[in-house]
Amino acid sequence: MSAPVLPDGVPRHVAIIMDGNGRWATERGLPRSAGHRQGVEALRRTVRAAGDIGIGVLTLYSFSSENWSRPASEVRFLLELLRRFIRTDVAELHQANVRVMMIGDRDGLEGTLRTMVEEAEALTRENDGMKLVIAFNYGSRQEITRAVRVIARKVAEGKIAPGDITPAVIGDHLDTGGLPEPDLLIRTGGEQRLSNYLLWQCAYTEFVFIPDYWPEFGAELLGRAISAYRMRDRRFGGVKSQSA
Ligand code: FPP
Repeated sequence: MSAPVLPDGVPRHVAIIMDGNGRWATERGLPRSAGHRQGVEALRRTVRAAGDIGIGVLTLYSFSSENWSRPASEVRFLLELLRRFIRTDVAELHQANVRVMMIGDRDGLEGTLRTMVEEAEALTRENDGMKLVIAFNYGSRQEITRAVRVIARKVAEGKIAPGDITPAVIGDHLDTGGLPEPDLLIRTGGEQRLSNYLLWQCAYTEFVFIPDYWPEFGAELLGRAISAYRMRDRRFGGVKSQSA
């Protein structure tokens, strides 16, 4: 489990559901693609702000396993945004000592895109600054299912005994294995649900839901969400020592 709070109150891991691109665009009489394009600008602002604050891990829900059911043109556009982002932003992120990682089912991505993701990860692997985790073709139930299959295979091969399967073992087999669990989850766009995002990892995560659409997000809204997080009393199922 992640440490409750860093000494200065900065959450170690912030996960974000970037919602509301479509509504932001529609309310302005623009195509949904314009909302996604502005969403990338918000993503860039947020990465910079998170680095400035000293957040260790920033995980962004960029394309869910369920997003394939959107119109083909929108799916193509979102895939193209990831391609463009890798082409235009990874070198700068590398300069800034950011490590880029992807979680989600990469086997479901087309070959050249998968290679681009792997090259971005390889280029930035040794960076020890912030970890930017892009959740793409990601679904938590699918991630848990993949992990269970790997563990079951190890049991069948006699590499692990059923009794040795612990929450830590399961956590290590998830795409997020090795990362701390999110301290803070932010969802923009007014909805208050997890939408198949980091279900296992968010057991003790603090949630902040904000009405603003994702294209409006940046340093100020991130700062406000962290202020709200700092007011929370995290007990991890225990009691406060002074109230015993
Ligand atoms: C949710 O808004 C947003 C998404 C499904 C995609 C988020 C993607 C980005 C911000 C850009 C992707 C960037 C990279 C680098 C991959 P919505 O479309 O569901 O909005 P709505 O709820 O208002 O319709």
